[in-house]
Amino acid sequence: MAARPQPPGGLRLGVNIDHVATVRNARGGRYPDPVRAARLAEDAGADGVTAHLREDRRHISDSDIERLMETLAVPLNLEMAPTDEMQSIALRHKPHAVCIVPERREELTTEGGLDVARDENRLARFIAPLREAGCRVSMFVAADRAQVEAASRIGAQVVELHTGAYCDAFADERHAQARDELERLRAMARFAHDLGLEVHAGHGLAYDTVRPVAAFPEVTELNIGHFLIGESIFVGLPKALAEMRRLMDEARA
Ligand code: PXP
Repeated sequence: MAARPQPPGGLRLGVNIDHVATVRNARGGRYPDPVRAARLAEDAGADGVTAHLREDRRHISDSDIERLMETLAVPLNLEMAPTDEMQSIALRHKPHAVCIVPERREELTTEGGLDVARDENRLARFIAPLREAGCRVSMFVAADRAQVEAASRIGAQVVELHTGAYCDAFADERHAQARDELERLRAMARFAHDLGLEVHAGHGLAYDTVRPVAAFPEVTELNIGHFLIGESIFVGLPKALAEMRRLMDEARA
């Protein structure tokens, strides 16, 4: 699959379409179709599409993944928990990228980063066949040195830094904490890059939080979903995406 040419400043935007499926599943039918949203995002300039196939299939379904693989021209980043079932699905489809995330059934969304340090041997065995199959393997981790080091040791090519704590602090106007979280992210982006890892970031990013993260020179990809899909209700996905892209490029410049 041909990736788009590198965007200005080398910062890609991956659009997460999970919540189009959330709305579809609220009525149990086929509308709105997340694959249609993915193609729209692609046409509007997304550099990739991200979808999280959860164990409970609360939003994205197996057939969505199949159809995304068949129809997308941009790379698919499959988010998944480190389970045998998900590994065999990923090995069947061989998406461009997989992002390994923690998953708890009762959580509303992916609440924290993966504890790579605690589960290092199992995760090393888990990702080896995915890498051999040609998938770019990313670990979704908190901005924590031990987690980034562990991700590097087990052979992941990428760490995606969890921006949720920063975004939550920003939204709650806990300004000092938001600044601290941002500094942690900045330091970890540099640290991960120096270890030879590709650095991505995501979770909870919106127009008012994206700029400082987009400005980290080590970050090469942002994955953004909930805000973009929410904003699409008001302005449409192409417009929401274009504005996010503009803010990213401005910050990068
Ligand atoms: N990156 C990862 C690894 C995620 O799990 C999620 C949420 O599914 C996102 C990015 C996107 O987060 P949001 O939907 O809050 O933008």
